Amino acid sequence: MPFNLSEFYKHLKTTFVSGTFCFETIDSTNNYLKEHKDLKTGELIIAETQTAGRGRRGREWKDNPSENLLFSFSYIPRNSIENPGVLSLLCALSLNRVCRKLLGDGSIKWPNDVKIGNRKIAGILLESKTVLTKVSYIVGIGVNVNQVSFDDELKTTATSFYQQLGDVQSREKLLALIMNEIASDIKKLENDKWTELINEYSENCETLKKKISFEIDGQIQEGTALSINPDGSIVINSNGVQVAYHGNEISYIKVL
Ligand code: BTN
Repeated sequence: MPFNLSEFYKHLKTTFVSGTFCFETIDSTNNYLKEHKDLKTGELIIAETQTAGRGRRGREWKDNPSENLLFSFSYIPRNSIENPGVLSLLCALSLNRVCRKLLGDGSIKWPNDVKIGNRKIAGILLESKTVLTKVSYIVGIGVNVNQVSFDDELKTTATSFYQQLGDVQSREKLLALIMNEIASDIKKLENDKWTELINEYSENCETLKKKISFEIDGQIQEGTALSINPDGSIVINSNGVQVAYHGNEISYIKVL
């Protein structure tokens, strides 16, 4: 079933979304917003399928047409954000809250993967573009909704709402619930309530207080993840030394 915009608007309870466009096929919803001139906050682009869907760290994001949610939205903060990476943590928190409400389960793998048990259900790609001095953020999100099965390595590492609930879910309602949560969390961020959000994030972050292995500058190390700093970095104790790393510094992180 193609994405039904009026069904989406029926469930949308926020004015954050300022415009919506749904593509049958596009290279990448993130690319579309990046190339778009005069970007405003809350422009939402949805695709049934992407021909060049991108994941974090140059990975591909493949899809089965019309089964999942593939979308990007723009956000132009009124005041500049010191550590933009916090936006992807914020969206992971919003997505995880929706998973917990609908599935009774959900945890965040730092920085921004949302998982059910050991399997990823949603991922986030945060990008930015600057025109003169104006910085716009583009948040791209992929959620596995009605995909019945996964191929190759995803067979054991991915899951979907369908797999969790055993039934087809409304993508329109799910996207509206997600945007409602994201809008409310962005409002909290703008109203200086980031500490509240980072506390909730930490409570829901599976990576914390665990032995982990991680890769930095091509070297695999082991340590214990201790906490998340307000700037979104993770504090890791490795061989008695505590270091804070940002999401773009660590190429992989795994709970042992
Ligand atoms: C990740 O976990 O690696 C991030 C995946 C992000 C995928 C989404 S799908 C919609 C948007 N357009 C893209 O090309 N990527 C993001």
